Amino acid sequence: MIVVVPGSFDPFHLGHLDVVTRAAQLFDEVVVAVGVNITKNYLFTPGERLELAREATAFLPNVRVLQLEGLLVDFCAAVGADTVVKGLRFGSDFDYELQMAKINDELGGIETLLLPATSPFGTLSATMIREVVLAGGDVSAFVPVEVAKAIAARKE
Ligand code: PNS
Repeated sequence: MIVVVPGSFDPFHLGHLDVVTRAAQLFDEVVVAVGVNITKNYLFTPGERLELAREATAFLPNVRVLQLEGLLVDFCAAVGADTVVKGLRFGSDFDYELQMAKINDELGGIETLLLPATSPFGTLSATMIREVVLAGGDVSAFVPVEVAKAIAARKE
């Protein structure tokens, strides 16, 4: 079974890596879809986010990382998946994910599976990581080494 793990991944952090790794253990193939959420201001370009997610998951042989353009349901159809997997950290995620799950079901009959976050990554948020980066703080404990290097390179 092929599943899609969609997200903005700006930046790809250890909570994302946990979800992708667990999905890769549960399913035959995982396609990470690096998308654009029009409500967000990004730190990295789509190409950079794709490359960093690719580097961080390179050790997982059944994981591919592709750009998500347009609708997630169309992306799923193109890669032969009818299920998306997303991480769930706390109650506020649930309300958002429930809405997304419903609209993706309505738009394309896509099923959504929510994987509860596991410690110690359970509260990580890309939005907060971006805020720490922009304020000059160190986020290397929260991201894969490739992402930490890319963040350091931005500051030079
Ligand atoms: O990390 P995010 O911000 O929760 O990722 C959201 C993303 C990119 C997965 C989502 O915005 C998405 O699926 N975008 C593609 C457009 C789409 O199909 N939206 C669903 C209906 S609102």
